[in-house]
Amino acid sequence: MKYDVKNIALANHGKQRIEWADHDMPVLQTIRERFTKQKPLRGLKMSCCLHVTAETANLVRTLKAGGANVVLCASNPLSTQDDIAASLVKHYGIPVFAITGEDNKTYYKHLHAAVAHQPNVTMDDGADLVTAILRDHPELHHHIVASMEETTTGVIRLKAMAADGVLRFPVVAVNDAACKHFFDNRYGTGQSTIDGIVRAADVLLAGSTFVVAGYGWCGRGLADRARGMGANVIVTEIDPVKALEAVMDGFRVMPMAEAAQLADVICTVTGNINVLDSRHFKTMKSGALIANSGHFNVEINLDALKKMSKSVVRVREFVQAYHLKNGKTIHVLGEGRLINLAAAEGHPASVMDMSFAVQALTTEWAVRQTGQLQAQVYNVPPQIDDQVARLKLKTMGVKLEQLTPAQKKYLASWEMGT
Ligand code: ADE
Repeated sequence: MKYDVKNIALANHGKQRIEWADHDMPVLQTIRERFTKQKPLRGLKMSCCLHVTAETANLVRTLKAGGANVVLCASNPLSTQDDIAASLVKHYGIPVFAITGEDNKTYYKHLHAAVAHQPNVTMDDGADLVTAILRDHPELHHHIVASMEETTTGVIRLKAMAADGVLRFPVVAVNDAACKHFFDNRYGTGQSTIDGIVRAADVLLAGSTFVVAGYGWCGRGLADRARGMGANVIVTEIDPVKALEAVMDGFRVMPMAEAAQLADVICTVTGNINVLDSRHFKTMKSGALIANSGHFNVEINLDALKKMSKSVVRVREFVQAYHLKNGKTIHVLGEGRLINLAAAEGHPASVMDMSFAVQALTTEWAVRQTGQLQAQVYNVPPQIDDQVARLKLKTMGVKLEQLTPAQKKYLASWEMGT
């Protein structure tokens, strides 16, 4: 078996962490038990390009239990947990191509190892795998039944591909399922981003001024959790409805040019480029901490920051001090890569349970539709959300109210009014 991981000797530690995470993934466990018996993915080759974490390990184990021949590569150069990669190879027989801190060349070498697997089904977190297939091996599209996409940024890229007419196989926007973004993007990102910032900088958030750029599901979660830690939270937003929502949720809302001057901590979660740029760096307080929790490391213009600096010094494991020519210092956390996975462990297993249950069930659904889907971006069928929510509630011991026959009739009727 070919693979490329940092150190296979880390495998036993990785296995312990995979099993620890699995305790908090009861929905995925239930699916894995059924997949083991029914083998709905039998005979399929799958390439997954995901953050290589303990939670992802439990997803790829589930896909393998369903009969798929799976390989895994990293979806980000800094998010790989090397012990998990080693254990997947040694204990679960799954080829992994991922090393934390890998350079761009190695990242793409690993991505191309997943392409070379000639998958029938792909799973992406950010659409790098689909992009590599379409750009470098478009002939492979004949083999591909469908592709799943985990994240907001990936869905945006894939919709742009569909609009440009370059998409060649069906894609399912797993991110857009309610049981994914309501919980993972909001509560997962909210908690794990705070975790990453605190682990990186050991900063006290109480009493600090904390700026959240972007009020999508991730920004909402992050702003709420930062407030919960006692920070004074400011939100920046380009969308008037989201900005209004942030105001009504009790946050101050203003342009970044104003917010940057007040901030002790700024975290970008917009999915866009150059959200923090030279015009902001110039006016920031000396000592400000800046981080990103959006998918790509493009939200902070680090090239511009470097040009404005006399020197860049690594002052802690995940902190670079940029000493500016104007005498100020700005601290960049996690090299501007998603801080929750670079400096912490990503979202906790309990929330990834729902995201990855949706991934597994949507893969099964897409495979059942073989030949019936077009080269478009599809939504996850609503019955999958329903099933995952019901299963999760059951594992939490939470019971639902039931409609009476009279209530069912009332909801299907129009006659009764004022
Ligand atoms: N994205 C965010 N958190 C994650 C995790 N723990 N595992 C995989 N992908 C993630």
